[in-house]
Amino acid sequence: MNEIPLTYLPKIWLPYTQMKTAPVPLHAVRTEGSRITLQDGRELVDGIASWWTACHGYNHPHIHARVSEQLGRMPHVMLGGLVHEPVRELSERLSILLPGDLDHSFFTDSGSVAVEVAMKMAIQYWINRGVQGRKKLLSFRNGYHGDTLATMSICDPEEGMHSLFAGAFPEQVLADLPRDETSSAALDALLAERRHEISAIILEPLVQGAGGMIFHPPEVLVRLRALADKHDVLLILDEIFTGFGRTGTMFACEQAGIIPDIITLSKALTGGTVPLAATVARRHVFEAFLSDSPSAALMHGPTFMANPLACMAACASLDLFEREPRLEQVAAISRQLRAELEPCRVLSGVRDVRVLGAIGVVELDSVDDMNRLKNALVACNVWVRPFRRIVYLTPAFTITSDELTRLTQAIYHVIREGAFRKPA
Ligand SMILES: Cc1ncc(COP(=O)(O)O)c(C=O)c1O
Repeated sequence: MNEIPLTYLPKIWLPYTQMKTAPVPLHAVRTEGSRITLQDGRELVDGIASWWTACHGYNHPHIHARVSEQLGRMPHVMLGGLVHEPVRELSERLSILLPGDLDHSFFTDSGSVAVEVAMKMAIQYWINRGVQGRKKLLSFRNGYHGDTLATMSICDPEEGMHSLFAGAFPEQVLADLPRDETSSAALDALLAERRHEISAIILEPLVQGAGGMIFHPPEVLVRLRALADKHDVLLILDEIFTGFGRTGTMFACEQAGIIPDIITLSKALTGGTVPLAATVARRHVFEAFLSDSPSAALMHGPTFMANPLACMAACASLDLFEREPRLEQVAAISRQLRAELEPCRVLSGVRDVRVLGAIGVVELDSVDDMNRLKNALVACNVWVRPFRRIVYLTPAFTITSDELTRLTQAIYHVIREGAFRKPA
């Protein structure tokens, strides 16, 4: 057990946690590379990079240096009426890095809010063009786009974390992914019938993450782009998880050769150091907001929008993508995950093993005792956070091969020992 006093608990309300029955959380005191040091001196190898953010590992000296310098000069200034060098540099670099004319970045401070801004952009795009009635979004089963009320409305209504709130937010349009001819025809028919209500289609490209680490091939994105064009609705790709190399290319949409009308980014945008998110629009979307009428402007503006420290961290992270061989590292991680997770496939209780880029997934038939499974992993000195029936790895791209082997071996070991089942 670690040494946190129990009185510590009631003051902090933890995420996704039943505070009455939850075990005392581990207390982290230091992070470095792919290691988390606990208060009691234990060191865990980190397998998920703090919810997929710390792509360069923790405490990268280059990000540290650029953020420290910015901290001394100007930690924050409001963006309303003022701009600053870090936001100028970051907007410029994102427009160069992103495919096509995804050129106009609107910054916020979390992924959920970036998605909300994308939703508002899409709805107002049609209003500004004089088209009435397009107030809904079309999203997909198993999708996840955030925890705020509006984003909850486009998450999977049953599998998602938000079924409790059904009826508390506007009903959207839900569909199955166009994985084959039949589901494509069904989506085509749905869009033909309801396009006059729909402002945009929204999807996490290639991987539906929090919905269960479910993969789909790039052809799905090609079909969606074609259907969006055919029915004249916008296409939003939520690359908050997949962006910045996670699936093997800088952005997942590159694998399909398509360009969404709006893209959302966060998580690895700052290399996992400071919160920042961006909603980036193509030129035709941006231009729909240009008008002599003030009411055509995008009415959104978080207080800490484009915080200079966060923008500087993002610029430093982009420096690292330019200078260091991140995509080669992702390819090497992918090969190692494939080789080292494959033996799990034959273990009792394993339904599937799958790998895409630097994402490795072992899907179980069911997990009867999640706390036991989590504790067994920590007992192997690794930090892996299974959810529902998914045990997954999304390590930092800088993880060493030995560290990755410690993670894959721990997963193999706890599954073989049946740590996901209730003790007999
Ligand atoms: C695809 C996707 N969109 C949106 C979000 C929400 O981001 P945040 O937790 O920063 O609000 C997440 C978070 O996991 C995500 O994976």
